[in-house]
Amino acid sequence: MSKTLRPSFLFCALTFILLFFVNYSAFSQRKETYLKNGWKFSRDDNPSNAEISYDDNQWENVSVPHDWAINGPFDKEIDKQTVAIEQNGETKPTEKTGRSGSLPWIGTGWYRTHFTVNKEFCRFILNFDGAMAEPKVFVNGKYAGEWKYGYTPFNVDITPYVNQTGDNLLAVRLENLPESSRWYPGAGLYRPVKLIQTQKIALSEWGIDVITESINQELQTADLKILISADTNNNPNLSLILSSNTCQDLTGSYPLNKDNYISIRKTVKNVVFWSPETPRLYDLRIKLVNNVTNDTIDDKIVRFGIRTIEVSDDKGFSLNGKTRKIKGVCLHHDLGMLGAAVNKAALAHQLILLKSMGCDAIRTSHNMPSQCQMDLCDSLGLMVMAESFDMWIYPKCKNGYARFFKGWSDRDLGNLVLSNRLHPSIVMWSIGNEIPEQGMKNGNLLTRHLQNIIHSLDKTRPVTSGCDRIDNAIATGFAQVLDVPGMNYRTHKYESAYDKLRHGFLLGSETASTVSSRGVYKFPVTLCNNQIYDDGQCSSYDVEYCSWSNLPEEDWVLQDDKKWVIGEFVWTGFDYLGEPTPYDEYWPSRSSYFGIFDLAGLPKDRYYLYRSKWSNEKTIHLLPHWNWPGREGEITPVFCYTNFPTAELFINGKSQGKISKRMTNAVNFNNGDELLDRYRLRWMNVRYEPGELKVVVYDKDGNYVGEEIVKTAGEPHHLELLPDKSSLLSDGEDMIFITVRIVDKDGNLCPDADNQINVEVEGEGLFKGICNGDATSLESFTKPTMKAFHGLLSVGVISSGKKGKMRVIVKSKGLKKSEIVFNID
Ligand code: GAL
Repeated sequence: MSKTLRPSFLFCALTFILLFFVNYSAFSQRKETYLKNGWKFSRDDNPSNAEISYDDNQWENVSVPHDWAINGPFDKEIDKQTVAIEQNGETKPTEKTGRSGSLPWIGTGWYRTHFTVNKEFCRFILNFDGAMAEPKVFVNGKYAGEWKYGYTPFNVDITPYVNQTGDNLLAVRLENLPESSRWYPGAGLYRPVKLIQTQKIALSEWGIDVITESINQELQTADLKILISADTNNNPNLSLILSSNTCQDLTGSYPLNKDNYISIRKTVKNVVFWSPETPRLYDLRIKLVNNVTNDTIDDKIVRFGIRTIEVSDDKGFSLNGKTRKIKGVCLHHDLGMLGAAVNKAALAHQLILLKSMGCDAIRTSHNMPSQCQMDLCDSLGLMVMAESFDMWIYPKCKNGYARFFKGWSDRDLGNLVLSNRLHPSIVMWSIGNEIPEQGMKNGNLLTRHLQNIIHSLDKTRPVTSGCDRIDNAIATGFAQVLDVPGMNYRTHKYESAYDKLRHGFLLGSETASTVSSRGVYKFPVTLCNNQIYDDGQCSSYDVEYCSWSNLPEEDWVLQDDKKWVIGEFVWTGFDYLGEPTPYDEYWPSRSSYFGIFDLAGLPKDRYYLYRSKWSNEKTIHLLPHWNWPGREGEITPVFCYTNFPTAELFINGKSQGKISKRMTNAVNFNNGDELLDRYRLRWMNVRYEPGELKVVVYDKDGNYVGEEIVKTAGEPHHLELLPDKSSLLSDGEDMIFITVRIVDKDGNLCPDADNQINVEVEGEGLFKGICNGDATSLESFTKPTMKAFHGLLSVGVISSGKKGKMRVIVKSKGLKKSEIVFNID
């Protein structure tokens, strides 16, 4: 090989060195650091907690995100309320326990941490992605800013208070009042805190938007509008240089106009349009350059997607010009065993499970989402209805957001939109859930005002609100104002609402509210609402709902038969802490029963019902389990959830009949349960005998497609461990969720086993949490022991922050232990 350097190589090397000095010698451009570790935390509300001299040595060491309440203990007295839940149609106050989760989230908490800044920067911003609640921020003992609503992302410019040459103390005070939430809100710095360091002249925070104005599917091109603003300190000689690793057509240089922004149009080619099926993202790099000195003052990369959304009377909801019905679920923000503390792996775990069901959208009920969740929705491919409020001026609970609405709602909405508008996953904004003003004079004016705020910041996405009193909302003009009229439940009112409204379409903004407990089956099997039992559980035959709600089938009839129904958001994807309806008055219920998945993230039978409707993947699922000692000879109905029309059921080889789904004229359950037969296969007169239950499934042409067998299980014998992935990152945040199954010697799930399970973690891993999905369990989520619930529970483990191996050992008295080793990369 020649040792002479070729001229082209020399030229490149020189250019690189020159560019390096031109671009990087004078300035450092922006540094963004998450303040994760080294926090101190205390519940003690001492007035001097913010002072530099205060000794916080005795405080607890924590990392952020952190939820101060999740360790418990559960306590019946916490946030016990004697109220009438008006929205549930109650008129008389009764004692409600568990309404907000019965965990110790109420009161005051303080966080303190230290940070240093780089001398070459001169503007410092703290970005809170949400802080529960009423955060007050102090830097070096000085008050620097505050917010009210615990879900809103907000920035505090701390420049005047920062010591550029030494240590800085950040202290944050948070306060949660009783009766301020209808569910478990979490407590503390439950979302990330980021320190942003820039020059005085810099790109504006949240000042970038990339809008898809139009697309051409055939040519795979799109017209984009790019908006970028900067804080220029009146310097007229600034330009923005754009480039992209994923889209060459975005390259260019543009002087900032006199109002300190650029608005340019670009046509881009070879586009893969963003959709749940093709969640393609592009990057855009933006450099802020001084034209005179050639210095690069700021440098930032953002991600965006290219897609169009539209709602219209002829096409309904369309993404990239194609009509699709939204197959969505509502999600509360808590993550079960982790409480409200944001964790990327836990959020991804939820979203991946939802996608496996054929779900293509989530509604962040009823509040602003975390950035982390929106990033994941972008990259995994889930559409989002990003919601803001559960109440406006009229309170739903005594100390709720209504206290702040007048002074803060415009800013809250503004921050929601500005901080999130780059996410292609967000296809709709919601200005509120079941807002009492829907039935009040002037409610429509407020609706228009809030919708206008959103439109002024984002013209591309429609605005909705979930109306539970549609007649009132139409009478007052509230529903007419909305871009997308949203119906919460009230399936019997869809038709008349559609007739009365101008839109030509309706969204099921909240549907179903079917209730069930995983693994629990009640007899006789009959449709019923607000049903309660002595054990505080609901039947998993999926026949129970609330007085205001319905079973999935009532929604599906509308989705399937009415072109103008544009989709639905089921209440809810996962069980959540608080709101234990129909057990609002029953202790120890402390979490919901609405989930398609339980609080541990384990699928209930309903998962397979929705999957059979929403997904093209083959689904064959039998219920109930087949361990019914004492029920021999008794009627024990069997259901099969499948996306195929016909099946034959066998018990110990004896046919129980071959049946098919039936098209029916029924639209609701007023005259019985006939409607169920359109979507479920039901053998209602089966008599129980132990042994083998088998279903054989056929397609519409009578061809065999598959079968499913459930056997009567023997005694619990050993533990089976099913992790959701095989290795994890050494970032100290990545998690693995392990489903623990108690099985008999042949590997059959023991469906009634409630053995106490103990977990040990060795090596570079740590135990993080445990949950069995039982809404009445008072065992701690954060101690490594818990009873199984109907044979199952879920364990969360996390990396310690170092590379290596982690061994997870799961034991239970009298059973063979199991263990599993993971690589931490
Ligand atoms: C809805 C409400 C939800 C939840 C649900 C329970 O009316 O919007 O937040 O309370 O009822 O069914």
